[in-house]
Amino acid sequence: MPTRMNAIIGLGLLIPSVAATNSPLQTRLDDGLALTPQMGWNTYNHYNCFPNEAIVRSNAQALVDLGLDSLGYRTVTIDCGWSVADRLADGSLTWNETLFPSGFPKIGQYLHDLELLFGVYGDSGIKLCGSPPDNVGSLDHEEQDAKTFAEWEADSLKYDNCYSDEATNFPNVNYQPSTSPQPRFEIMSRALQAQDRPMLFQVCEWGIDFPANWAPALGHSWRIGNDIIPAWRAIFRTLNQAVPQTSYAGPGQWPDLDMLMVGNGVFSQAEEQTHFSLWAILKSPLTIGAALKDDTTAISKGSLQVLTNEDVIAFNQDKLGVSASLRRRWSDEGFEVWSGPLEGGKTVAAVINWRNESRDLTLDLPDVGLQSAGVLRDVWGEAMERGVRTSYTARVEGHGTMLVELDETTPAGEYSTALFGRKNGQGTSFQSIYALTTSANYGITINFAQPVSSATNITLRTSASKQTYSTEIPASAHQVTLQAPLIAGSNNTITVWHHQTAIDSVQVTPPNGTYYPGAKFILHGDAKQVTCGEGFCQPVGSKIGNLAANSTAHAVIAASSSGSKYVELDYINNEVALDSAWGWGANSRNLTLAVNGGLPVRLEVPLSGRHSELFGPGQGWWDTGSLGVLTSGWKDGENEVVIGNVGGEKGFQALAPDFVGMRIYD
Ligand SMILES: *[C@@H]1O[C@H](CO)[C@@H](O)[C@H](O)[C@H]1NC(C)=O
Ligand SMILES: *[C@@H]1O[C@H](CO)[C@@H](O)[C@H](O)[C@H]1NC(C)=O
Ligand SMILES: *[C@@H]1O[C@H](CO)[C@@H](O)[C@H](O)[C@H]1NC(C)=O
Ligand SMILES: *[C@@H]1O[C@H](CO)[C@@H](O)[C@H](O)[C@H]1NC(C)=O
Ligand SMILES: *[C@@H]1O[C@H](CO)[C@@H](O)[C@H](O)[C@H]1NC(C)=O
Ligand SMILES: *[C@@H]1O[C@H](CO)[C@@H](O)[C@H](O)[C@H]1NC(C)=O
Ligand SMILES: *[C@@H]1O[C@H](CO)[C@@H](O)[C@H](O)[C@H]1NC(C)=O
Repeated sequence: MPTRMNAIIGLGLLIPSVAATNSPLQTRLDDGLALTPQMGWNTYNHYNCFPNEAIVRSNAQALVDLGLDSLGYRTVTIDCGWSVADRLADGSLTWNETLFPSGFPKIGQYLHDLELLFGVYGDSGIKLCGSPPDNVGSLDHEEQDAKTFAEWEADSLKYDNCYSDEATNFPNVNYQPSTSPQPRFEIMSRALQAQDRPMLFQVCEWGIDFPANWAPALGHSWRIGNDIIPAWRAIFRTLNQAVPQTSYAGPGQWPDLDMLMVGNGVFSQAEEQTHFSLWAILKSPLTIGAALKDDTTAISKGSLQVLTNEDVIAFNQDKLGVSASLRRRWSDEGFEVWSGPLEGGKTVAAVINWRNESRDLTLDLPDVGLQSAGVLRDVWGEAMERGVRTSYTARVEGHGTMLVELDETTPAGEYSTALFGRKNGQGTSFQSIYALTTSANYGITINFAQPVSSATNITLRTSASKQTYSTEIPASAHQVTLQAPLIAGSNNTITVWHHQTAIDSVQVTPPNGTYYPGAKFILHGDAKQVTCGEGFCQPVGSKIGNLAANSTAHAVIAASSSGSKYVELDYINNEVALDSAWGWGANSRNLTLAVNGGLPVRLEVPLSGRHSELFGPGQGWWDTGSLGVLTSGWKDGENEVVIGNVGGEKGFQALAPDFVGMRIYD
């Protein structure tokens, strides 16, 4: 619908941009367990709540026979369905003798004899989840049960959250409980620590009450959200929930993305690679959930190849213990980039192909903070390339992932003559120059190999313009900075002339951009401004809510040149998929940004909340996240910008995320 633009000019504010994930590490159980994410096998994803002794024994044996144990998969956990409705006369927990005739202590011994670890499963409510028939839970029996688990020589406890809300008469599941799960998990945590056997504690609270804020102090891993389901859409949903939690990962405290579906026949091999790669680099515990071997099933060769990829396992088990984080997302184009640091100065990066078609995708190294890599190893592509400058392109299967390890890297913006320079008559030409945005305001610093001997004039030109830029530099200067234009993309050239002194490198600095707070936009339809609590909705203090297809925020924004501009959006989304996790809930919302009436750019944003919504005043809806998009159609002069959710009425969520503000790199 045509709407008259209201002119707002010069509402730019200089506010430092906020990092999307910048929370400090929380205190953890510093007991030497889970210094890297735990790995193992669990009955649930394949056998549901119907485990038995034969299943456990044959799969445990298969872990050994297939060599999975020596790759680190050692903890064998018997999930729901193992116990009975009643406790023994002395009040202790016991197993179902029909299902486990040898008994749990003997099974533990069997696992230990195989040099595996024995994982048990319990529940912080009155019954185990989905348990036939009504297996008793540990609520109010925590100390006794912890003692029992220790006597059975268990090595870990996965502790679930069913039948736990007393105020609503203990339903199987309550996603809006009247009390936080935290105290129940704390009681069991203390009970486990009181035993003289170290037992790893897996907190399984389904993401209720933003556990990243409290679970690291209680256990070694916590579930970031609801269960994985046997459907491809579960991967996007889970990653969207992981985004605001990646910074909480560290030795002894791992965000658990839930057990693996690899090998369960629900994903293509490319999808299994994506699932496994992302779980690995986000430092999730890696728990196989497939039937490795039983009377009727054996895992396929293809799935086994995924689970046994030693590079991917090494990314997960890297001693640095830092999770990868989301760096860029192209929603319309259907791909995104994650990356994180590894030990020894290396970097791992993943480019996910969300489209179900094989195509070439490009990783621009500056999107992961790098300019070059001496060595790039493409894990699934089984390729290696030396001397990679600025970009790497490879074929990625539909729903597959380009997963690369980068070594001997240089930081983004730094172009050494050795790697990027080429003699060009009386000058030097630098190739493969990356530009985040189209702008005339790039700082280009020329670093000389030694101080210039006498005053001299230096001239440069970029591929973005015919114009030359000159300046005089005094004797003994080490460097000089000029301002020049570049065009968004990875194929700019900078040529420098008339330099007597050799150039060591050039440094390219993008413009800082200008910040436009949502508070200064003109609102249409139902869109409305909301003031946030002190210190929230950074960096503005307020946000625009109720944005939708017919409810928008408008501004007229001045740009100093035409072309494509990079825009960093500060948004808020705390639409957590709990109930909807079983359906199409994706933990995401769509926002569109249109410039001068052109085709809107869509950004499907992940969660940003880092607080619970349950018992506080909406703080999860006050935590800002940031993601950048390249937007085309900017003119030199005034530009009409519209934020909304074009086409949103057809999506899963009609509402856009709340809008805090945006930085335009011009
Ligand atoms: C043990 O499991 C079997 C098979 O699921 C079930 O039929 C039986 O009722 C269970 N026994 C007890 C005591 O719960
Ligand atoms: C992806 O494409 C393949 C091959 O065309 C098809 O078999 C599969 O069902 C598609 N997957 C999804 C999730 O749509
Ligand atoms: C630099 O160029 C200016 C303008 O052409 C000229 O006046 C000046 O003498 C030159 N300086 C040097 C050191 O060559
Ligand atoms: C990059 O620029 C060079 C020189 O302008 C040109 O020859 C080459 O085709 C360009 N490559 C791409 C991928 O655009
Ligand atoms: C950009 O920001 C940096 C860091 O705050 C500052 O040092 C620099 O002067 C700014 N540059 C411009 C062109 O404003
Ligand atoms: C926008 O659309 C929604 C859903 O169709 C509707 O409920 C609302 O009234 C509309 N608002 C305006 C201002 O037209
Ligand atoms: C976002 O937009 C895409 C494309 O229109 C749509 O498939 C998806 O369901 C939307 N997401 C949400 C959360 O509405």
